[in-house]
Amino acid sequence: MNDLQAIVENAKAAFVQAVTPAELENAKALYLGKSGRITELMKGMSALTVEEKKSRGAAINLAKQAIEAALTQRREALAEGQLQAQLLAEALDVTLPGRQRGMGGLHPVSITLERIETIFGSMGFDVAQGPEIESDWFNFTALNTPEDHPARSMHDTFYVEGGVEGVPNLLRTHTSPMQIRHAVQHVKRYRAAAGADAKDLFSGDMPEIRVIAPGRTYRVDSDATHSPMFHQCEGLWIGENVSFKDLKFVFTDFCRKFFESDDLVLRFRPSYFPFTEPSAEIDIQFQTGPQAGRWLEVAGSGQVHPNVVRNMGLDPEKFIGFAFGMGPDRLTMLRYGVNDLRLFFDGDIRFLAQFQ
Ligand code: PHE
Repeated sequence: MNDLQAIVENAKAAFVQAVTPAELENAKALYLGKSGRITELMKGMSALTVEEKKSRGAAINLAKQAIEAALTQRREALAEGQLQAQLLAEALDVTLPGRQRGMGGLHPVSITLERIETIFGSMGFDVAQGPEIESDWFNFTALNTPEDHPARSMHDTFYVEGGVEGVPNLLRTHTSPMQIRHAVQHVKRYRAAAGADAKDLFSGDMPEIRVIAPGRTYRVDSDATHSPMFHQCEGLWIGENVSFKDLKFVFTDFCRKFFESDDLVLRFRPSYFPFTEPSAEIDIQFQTGPQAGRWLEVAGSGQVHPNVVRNMGLDPEKFIGFAFGMGPDRLTMLRYGVNDLRLFFDGDIRFLAQFQ
């Protein structure tokens, strides 16, 4: 083996030993680089005769080409190996089930609100929506709860900035302000048509007010059965001849439809609200099932106070009716047997998905 063949063989061996592109480039430098073996041989030719240069130069060139060919071959092999390794590392397991986009669904409390709207809708009730940031007037004063009235302390109120003449706005503590807001709109519409002032408006001029107002309400309160944000649904029925008897009938009918059971009993327990007189707490009792025998409070209610009827723009001598305010969160807990209200508002998809 002459010197050139030996260099070529050494170079080939060095290339095969290189297992990364960086190692290969280092090995290349040893043979083809500026001070590599081949370059050194070229430089060493200066002492030769022209004839010698010709044959020696051709031989060196052949060796160089052989080394370059080996280099290219090794480069391609390494690149191929790298590609294979990458493909292996990034391999897709096509047998894994695909990740699907969730179907989504209604929140359990929304399901309850829809049920409430459907059931009361079937009894001829409209559905009204109102603001969650409310004025002191609608939340308290118009509902026969003037400033300094002790009943205000029944509500732990969140006050917010804004408001008029030093009276702050607040986050509504109940949906009862909707009694006033809705009734005032209703009365205005028909008073104009009848050409009557508040005192002269008769029910013949105006359809009865029959409305529910579901929505979010807020109080400074937080434990397993109270959340600072919770839901209420107000009910209001005002007419010429609407009595407590109607309230009892309507609410009993609602509960039986809501719980899909005739096997429950209602109790109207005397209570106090500034905006109703007389007032009653409504309790229900299941006769069967896990809750059987326990009295469960589901709503406040009562005959609308004459001062409130007046604030609706109606003559309390001519118009009478009832109102109730119930807790859809509570109804949802009872319907599904959930014992911690906070679960509804944590947003845990594992909990919420169970209701779809
Ligand atoms: N607004 C009352 C509450 O939040 C409930 C209620 C509504 C009572 C309507 C009577 C009439 O406690």
